[in-house]
Amino acid sequence: METMQDEAQQGVAQGGQPRVRSWFHAPTNTACHLIIDPHTGRSALVDSVLDFDYASGRTRTTFADEIIAFVRGEGLQLDWLLETHAHADHLSAAAYIQRQLGGRIAIGEHIREVQHVFAELFHDPAIPRDGRPFDHLFRDGEEFAVGSLRARVMHTPGHTPACVVYVVGDCAFVGDTLFMPDYGTARCDFPGGDAHQLYASVRRIFELPPDTRLYLCHDYMPGGREPRWVCTVREQRQANVQIHDGVGEEEFVAFRKRRDATLGMPALIMPSIQVNVRGGHMPAPEANGISYLKVPIDAV
Ligand SMILES: [Fe+2]
Repeated sequence: METMQDEAQQGVAQGGQPRVRSWFHAPTNTACHLIIDPHTGRSALVDSVLDFDYASGRTRTTFADEIIAFVRGEGLQLDWLLETHAHADHLSAAAYIQRQLGGRIAIGEHIREVQHVFAELFHDPAIPRDGRPFDHLFRDGEEFAVGSLRARVMHTPGHTPACVVYVVGDCAFVGDTLFMPDYGTARCDFPGGDAHQLYASVRRIFELPPDTRLYLCHDYMPGGREPRWVCTVREQRQANVQIHDGVGEEEFVAFRKRRDATLGMPALIMPSIQVNVRGGHMPAPEANGISYLKVPIDAV
């Protein structure tokens, strides 16, 4: 398992600011971030990844175990397992990590709409539609604590209806709203996605102070450069290839629709969605003790 730890980009812990430790899951291009309150040792993990081999149906915890070992090694208490949205490209490790370290699994309250859509698509009455089994659903503007750090939730729909950004000190964990400036923005063609909404959500993020450090969920390394997952609001406003300052809403929406029409489905969308709308829990085992995931045929 190829992973990469974020040493150089680690935040400095001063003045109510978090220390941030990141890991990059190369097989799914996902960046996972641990928000640490240096004063109390309390922490929150954003967008963890469970290794999954679709061909065999086999999960592994190699990546998650690295994070668990770090949390234990540093003597940290994990209070939150935060999801920025129901990911379509990887399985969340939140439920597994919660069993090891505790903490509450949380996501934006509009996950209910996402659960509803996919309970219908997968024709699965066991997919909840009321936000369970997440331990907490965040409202837009809701505040919560990570030790002595104050965190604030911004509802940022567009990529999915339930996307949220977590703002902690001078950092914001932006999920799939934005990628690095040289790569652009997330697709808006999943169920409930909307390019107009994504434009508005990104403009809200751009209203954060210019030096705010934006921690991204993915990096696709255009041109073969090294993976990166943090940049400032200023850098995005100046240089994002799709949505820098000066790009109007209609221009962005037209571009996004053209681009989305060319994209195939993520390789792991079917298993990911079924697990992630359950907060990383597998479907209940059947009578033989095995959990199963479905694939809708000719429905998407
Ligand atoms: Fe996503």
